[in-house]
Amino acid sequence: MEQQTTYYELFQRSLANPEAFWQQYADAVPWYTPPRRILSTDAGGLTRWFAGGRLNTCYAAVDYQVENGRADQPALVYDSPVTQTIRAYTYRQLQDEVSRLAGGLRSLGVGKGDRVVIYMPVVPEAVFAMLACARLGAVHSVVFGGFAPHELAIRIDDAQPKVVLSASCGIEVDRVIPYKPLLDAALRLASHHPSRCVILQRPMQPALLHAGQDTDWQALVHDAQPAGCVPVDATDPLYILYTSGTTGKPKGIVRDNGGHAVALRFSLDAIYDVKPGEVFWAASDVGWAVGHSYIVYGPLMHGCTSVLFEGKPVRTPDAGTFWRVVQDHRVKVLFAAPTAFRAIRKEDPEGQLKKKYDLSSLTYLFVAGERCDPSTFHWLTDLTGLPVIDHWWQTESGWPMVANMMGVEPVPPKPGSSARPVCGYDVQILDEDGNQLGPNQEGNVCVKLPLPPGCLPTLWNNTEGFRQAYLSRYPGYYLTGDGGYIDEDGYVFIMGRVDDVINVAGHRLSTGEMEEILAGHPAVAECAVMGIACDIRGQRPIGLVVLKDGVQIQEPQLESELVALIRERIGAVASFRSVAIVKRLPKTRSGKILRKSIRQMADGIAFTVPSTIDDPAILDEIRMVLQTRHIGLAFADTDTAI
Ligand code: COA
Ligand code: AMP
Repeated sequence: MEQQTTYYELFQRSLANPEAFWQQYADAVPWYTPPRRILSTDAGGLTRWFAGGRLNTCYAAVDYQVENGRADQPALVYDSPVTQTIRAYTYRQLQDEVSRLAGGLRSLGVGKGDRVVIYMPVVPEAVFAMLACARLGAVHSVVFGGFAPHELAIRIDDAQPKVVLSASCGIEVDRVIPYKPLLDAALRLASHHPSRCVILQRPMQPALLHAGQDTDWQALVHDAQPAGCVPVDATDPLYILYTSGTTGKPKGIVRDNGGHAVALRFSLDAIYDVKPGEVFWAASDVGWAVGHSYIVYGPLMHGCTSVLFEGKPVRTPDAGTFWRVVQDHRVKVLFAAPTAFRAIRKEDPEGQLKKKYDLSSLTYLFVAGERCDPSTFHWLTDLTGLPVIDHWWQTESGWPMVANMMGVEPVPPKPGSSARPVCGYDVQILDEDGNQLGPNQEGNVCVKLPLPPGCLPTLWNNTEGFRQAYLSRYPGYYLTGDGGYIDEDGYVFIMGRVDDVINVAGHRLSTGEMEEILAGHPAVAECAVMGIACDIRGQRPIGLVVLKDGVQIQEPQLESELVALIRERIGAVASFRSVAIVKRLPKTRSGKILRKSIRQMADGIAFTVPSTIDDPAILDEIRMVLQTRHIGLAFADTDTAI
């Protein structure tokens, strides 16, 4: 990064002339053929970056590093307290693992453009799998291991993979979760059938393999000829990552190869201030965007050592685990969700465990995935004495949109704000009519087009859906789905989603989907699901249901059936635990359920009863129900689940 440049100069340059700006950073990517155009629009009028460029993302992340002096540097350090394993892979070893797995996949017929679904726990093989797909020009779609078969099936049907890569089991604190039966169940639910499933057998619980469907991972790799890197276009898809929208159908976010490579390298330098050879740890799951960008592709393309952690911030074995990992691997940058620190704080409020470890390597603590509440921010800052950097992004962007750019010009933090827009993102706050709002006025957070490199160019097989969901609300702008404001100093405050998406322990989930599931229960006439405040997970969903006429069912019975239904269809990660029966739901005269008012009531936030409400007495009824059941922080609700 140009040390002399101020944030403002660099940011202005990125907006005034995006082509010149990103051309400069594109030079850091090892292209086979440099791009012909920096910024262009495709036949459908959508933004494309680096058209004509040819590269291979796996080459940039692995082979290029081997060829340029990093062969013996650790590329990946797998630290798994749940299996008592610590194992480092140098870039040369990573190249060997990845090229053999790619050869194995090729022997199963996987080639450029084919899709491969990866449903795995946080193990090195999951990283090898992603890179092996990239090596072949195949398009991977990683499905978070905590999702239930139904969710996996939806993604299999949409991505239509040739092959699925999975493992016999995952490990959750003190429990083994067999993955293979979940995969088999998903395949029974899906209409599309992959030609092969490759299963990594883990010793804690090996799986029964089905002849004709399953292949043993080790056998496949053992017999494979290493495969080389297949050049692809900059605009070819590298991966699809499904994320929750407002309905039961997740959105297939597409990431291209060229823009992604340029943006991630820029971000490591300019935002995270990390240099090649240094150690970067994103304490996430490979199944999330954070895992894709900052466990796998970003740090490796930047020549860093990346830590892959299979564990939790607490109970594996205790709330000192994060600090132990920082010490053992000399981590410079730690990136985690605020939820993780809230969990640590709950178990070790005075930070006694931290004192046991040498954290001298740690320079920055980055947090994202949900709003970093000021109380967590202050606790963490006081405990560590380090810069705590809240930064805001989405699966769609793939890299931060608002951050304190530590590699350019750090600014003093403001608790509750993720600081200033990152270069390339013209963040604006718009009112309902599309007028730009002034300082401190809250509205819809939007980004003026074009989005910078790395952001989604479209949705998988659904360009119309892409336009509808993101571009149609305000022509010329990308709609982020978040509400917030920008203060007089240009600091952005993201206040939460304005749609039916919630964030539970950093996991993005759709309340719309949960409502669809609850509504399918034979006793339920009508329902509403809201994300209410939770002192550990940030938010947790609750359901209010109205019974069909004549149905006789006790509330505890219905609650346990509906809780089981959400676990079965979405997964335990939804942390859906509370259902209350109500007589009626509060609505506007036009029939819109007033979910926000219910949420604010549960959270103890003062609110004005909307003037459009049909019958204000219903809100009082709901208040009584929440109070009687102790649902919501306003009614002495406590999260006892960690
Ligand atoms: N596979 C299978 N099950 C999973 C899973 C996975 N990969 N991840 C979570 N689950 C299950 C858990 O076992 C738990 O099941 P239970 O209800 O039967 O106990 C349930 O889903 C809820 O999980 P979680 O919310 O993670 O609760 P927890 O009590 O296990 O842990 C935290 C709480 C706060 C420690 C944990 O949520 C956490 O570390 N959060 C940070 C998340 C994060 O890093 N997000 C990345 C975004 S940047
Ligand atoms: P995901 O796509 O899973 O990364 O979730 C993206 C959503 O998480 C955003 O739209 C926000 O609602 C929320 N989010 C992520 N990071 C932050 C942050 N730093 N501050 C506030 N909200 C955040």
